[in-house]
Amino acid sequence: MTLFPFASPFRSGHAMSTQHRDDAIAHTAASVSAAPGAVEANAFKIRARDVNVFYGDKQALFDVNLDVPGKSVTAFIGPSGCGKSTFLRCINRMNDTIPSAKVTGAIEIDGNDVNAKSVDPVVLRSRVGMVFQKPNPFPKTIFENVAYGPRIHGLATGKAELEAIVESSLKKAGLWNEVSDRLHQPGTGLSGGQQQRLVIARAIAVSPEVILMDEPCSALDPIATARIEELIDELRSQFCIVIVTHSMAQAARVSQKTAFFHMGKLVESGATEDMFTNPRDSRTQDYITGRFG
Ligand SMILES: Nc1ncnc2c1ncn2[C@@H]1O[C@H](COP(=O)(O)OP(=O)(O)OP(=O)(O)O)[C@@H](O)[C@H]1O
Ligand SMILES: [Mg+2]
Repeated sequence: MTLFPFASPFRSGHAMSTQHRDDAIAHTAASVSAAPGAVEANAFKIRARDVNVFYGDKQALFDVNLDVPGKSVTAFIGPSGCGKSTFLRCINRMNDTIPSAKVTGAIEIDGNDVNAKSVDPVVLRSRVGMVFQKPNPFPKTIFENVAYGPRIHGLATGKAELEAIVESSLKKAGLWNEVSDRLHQPGTGLSGGQQQRLVIARAIAVSPEVILMDEPCSALDPIATARIEELIDELRSQFCIVIVTHSMAQAARVSQKTAFFHMGKLVESGATEDMFTNPRDSRTQDYITGRFG
């Protein structure tokens, strides 16, 4: 599937305040995932440059520059209303669905501009799946929830192939053992934690490259949360994952990179361990130590 026929609009040499930290992350990611000789910058799956978002006259994001590594988990943290969800929605163009929203700047995935005219947002959203705070299974059976995407995108040639995709997606989402004997019962009949894993299976079923998760555990109890965190850790070997969370502990547990937003600005980003042990900005320090937010 050719999603991005156009070349990169980005130029090299763009100044970034967190560049040196990102270089270290790129180096690590490149050493595990890139082909020999590949340039380090390729280790970044998503690159955002000068992203501004407005809702009508109100500006919600200001000049956000961020590189998100592939095959890794990146956490977005920051107080309520700082723009985490807004930025997440830029990545798969969900802001297109909000009439007052206007996005400027550039977001690239693998060097291709997601806002290029040639990009079909429906196809983009199958490459960049999204999981929301409240699990939102379709009012269909468990099987149909997972089969829906592969079917509409023509990813299976027949019934057997479709069944295989459903099974492997439910296995990857750690749900198969709990639902294999009730595939034709409604998805909405599952527990909250199971529904969230069903929705993750639904996202995985179309073989995405990126999975965006907006507070995926905030409606779940600690046991279901732990299960989703384990799952995120397993999935990062295959996908680029971005997670928004209000839990510092969760960000520290599941992510390798953390980006801290405050009042519409990306204050700093870097390796998670660094961010939590040695934040550079006093606003980050105040937030992670619970002084505000
Ligand atoms: N659809 C919308 N229309 C108008 N303003 C919006 C819309 N969505 C978000 N905003 C505003 O944009 C700003 C950023 O909101 P956003 O939802 O991105 O924050 P957030 O960091 O995800 O917050 P939370 O942690 O509470 O989810 C806020 O001031 C919010 O009121
Ligand atoms: Mg939000």
